[in-house]
Amino acid sequence: MSVNRTIAVAQGKGGVGKTSLVCNVAGLAAAAGSRVLIVDLDQQGNVARDLGYKPDSGEELLTSLITGAPLPLLVGVRDRLDVVAGGPALGDLAAVMTGRAQRGAGDLGDVLERKLSDVASDYDLIVLDTPPGDRIVVTAALAASRAVVIPTRSDEASLDGVTRIAERFMEVRARNPHLRLAGVVLFAISSRTTRLERDVRRSLEGVLGDAAPVFDTRIRHLDSAAADARRRGLLVHELEQAAIGDRVARIDALRQGSTPTGGLYARDSSGLAGDYANLAQEILTRVVQLEQEMATVS
Ligand SMILES: Nc1ncnc2c1ncn2[C@@H]1O[C@H](COP(=O)(O)OP(=O)(O)OP(=O)(O)O)[C@@H](O)[C@H]1O
Ligand SMILES: [Mg+2]
Repeated sequence: MSVNRTIAVAQGKGGVGKTSLVCNVAGLAAAAGSRVLIVDLDQQGNVARDLGYKPDSGEELLTSLITGAPLPLLVGVRDRLDVVAGGPALGDLAAVMTGRAQRGAGDLGDVLERKLSDVASDYDLIVLDTPPGDRIVVTAALAASRAVVIPTRSDEASLDGVTRIAERFMEVRARNPHLRLAGVVLFAISSRTTRLERDVRRSLEGVLGDAAPVFDTRIRHLDSAAADARRRGLLVHELEQAAIGDRVARIDALRQGSTPTGGLYARDSSGLAGDYANLAQEILTRVVQLEQEMATVS
């Protein structure tokens, strides 16, 4: 009934920062010394873009979920960071699993939980990236998780997406009472908007009937650095490091009278890297806290 230290990042709406959060938070946790697994449950397979590995068909993950085969691990995508790659083949997952569940063979949530349990002892943290709006896959991810992180942008459609995922969260709690709402992340935010935070809380409270946790750290809106990071297959903190290295190399080239060559990195990644560092700390602290609460309850 859900796998320890497993968090799902989910939202009812697309393009709200799920994959960016999954990759950057998992990457920072791994860089800080944790053993981390990302599972990309999305047929878009965008985790490959943010981490820079070759896009995958998703066939191996699909096969693993519908047969007894172990999860296909891409080991060492970064130090201490492994990935199970998603891809287009996962588009067939919902249909295949519905057929299986109808035959009484267990639903996708049961299967995913079993697969994750098989590898859980190798990791300190497992992070699930979910597709936008695929009910069966999102429900399965929540069924296998201990906590959910919900990112949202500030527009009305994103807030509707928060409501939808909060409703899904309540449904899944009936079968997975271990599931907790880790919190909501305000994503790609232009400035400190108290109105947005109030609206998010109201959306959540409408569904959850409780004070809703919103993380203090907001991820700032920064198209240039976000696009540059994804284009290069680098996490934001890696982009920041690469940009610093590039700057030093250019100055060095100029000093020696030669023409600087190099990558022309987005110049302003450090603020965004700082946001992710603060957010990762908040999320990981919350995950440990939830785990401790659970240990005292049981
Ligand atoms: N800090 C940022 N500011 C502005 N745009 C950003 C920022 N970070 C990421 N983006 C952009 O926002 C878009 C959506 O991000 P992302 O892919 O993480 O969302 P998602 O919720 O996973 O989307 P999907 O639902 O399609 O899986 C991407 O084009 C990404 O480059
Ligand atoms: Mg995504």
